[in-house]
Amino acid sequence: MSTGMAWKYMGALRLFLILISCHPRSIQSAPLSSYLVSSFTPPDSDSSLPFNHIAINDITGDVYIGARERLYQLDSNLIPKHTVKTGKCTDHPNVNDNKLLVVVETPQNNTLITCGGCDGFCETRSLANISHDVVRYGSNDWQLVVTTKDLPTVGAVVLGADYVRTGEGTPNRAFYLFTGVSDGIPFISKHNLLDLSLDQNIPRGYVKSESLFKYLVVYKDYLYYFISREDGVYLGRLCRNSLDQFFTSYTEIELQCGSYNMIQTAHIGPAGSQLADSLNINDTDVLLYAVFSNEISSALCVYKMSDVQQSFEDAVLGCLQETSRNGTTNKHFTSESMCTHVSK
Ligand SMILES: *[C@@H]1O[C@H](CO)[C@@H](O)[C@H](O)[C@H]1NC(C)=O
Ligand SMILES: *[C@@H]1O[C@H](CO)[C@@H](O)[C@H](O)[C@H]1NC(C)=O
Ligand SMILES: *[C@@H]1O[C@H](CO)[C@@H](O)[C@H](O)[C@H]1NC(C)=O
Ligand SMILES: *[C@@H]1O[C@H](CO)[C@@H](O)[C@H](O)[C@H]1NC(C)=O
Repeated sequence: MSTGMAWKYMGALRLFLILISCHPRSIQSAPLSSYLVSSFTPPDSDSSLPFNHIAINDITGDVYIGARERLYQLDSNLIPKHTVKTGKCTDHPNVNDNKLLVVVETPQNNTLITCGGCDGFCETRSLANISHDVVRYGSNDWQLVVTTKDLPTVGAVVLGADYVRTGEGTPNRAFYLFTGVSDGIPFISKHNLLDLSLDQNIPRGYVKSESLFKYLVVYKDYLYYFISREDGVYLGRLCRNSLDQFFTSYTEIELQCGSYNMIQTAHIGPAGSQLADSLNINDTDVLLYAVFSNEISSALCVYKMSDVQQSFEDAVLGCLQETSRNGTTNKHFTSESMCTHVSK
């Protein structure tokens, strides 16, 4: 096993991409208003406070909105149940935007994690009433989860391995909060749910260029981080059961979508029958749907997940070094701080 940090970086991914407008026959359209079932508008006094994040309780259907200086809890018909004023920042010159909002429903924990923009620390609240059971974390730096700068943070609670120094943790041991913080001190982190303290992370120093974390999708054994950089859009892949302290197997590939150079959001799911027909693939084939934009317009690009996975395998292989000792071949990550590999 190599002790150095290895980053597997990048085969440019040129897969089939469809701009939906190329297939007008398979698209149904109607004005958005005809789909409107219900809506929520904050009271006039709060209308200048932008919404930052939304999260849904899959069990009760309750909807939580993290806004500047406010948290809202709505029922599944978007009827307001409760509003919490999180307030202006008093001790800091920051704006109190909601930085992270995650519904946690695990056998041990049923809470709403909210992280605020004043000092960057987090709270947990009752999912049933967001005014109840408020616990504030933040007695030390290891509980710092987000950045207070005006930059996006992504996070998700998923099963992962416990971290032990020997590298012999147990996969799927407990639920953890995984984050990606643009300009945060660690780049990608894993926090435990006991006190939100940091277990494992990719230190900021290992990242060459500024990264904006725009979206996070959990699919099977991996977390997929959608990252916008000056030179393009990257997809980072982290195994949720990684056992080592610095997540050395984290890998990135580049995602391309014509001339669209910013990523907005994404989804991973089956093709469905109509799309499968028009693309001549199986309707159970899993696709990555990604919404891109540039200064003028936006586009939906669709990639076959099997091609995405192959591109990651190629990137990993390009970063493995073979050493031969006494007839046995070992493969290990190169020990450079960042391994760049572009597969053509
Ligand atoms: C939530 O708790 C607050 C404070 O205890 C209370 O005033 C409010 O009525 C509760 N809301 C609901 C929907 O139970
Ligand atoms: C999760 O549950 C454990 C055990 O009940 C508790 O100690 C911990 O504070 C909870 N964590 C969160 C983030 O709610
Ligand atoms: C679709 O997938 C199923 C299950 O993997 C397979 O049996 C079937 O042959 C596939 N159909 C096509 C058209 O590839
Ligand atoms: C190869 O094996 C020999 C004999 O078992 C041993 O002395 C030597 O140290 C080994 N070399 C390496 C590089 O492991």
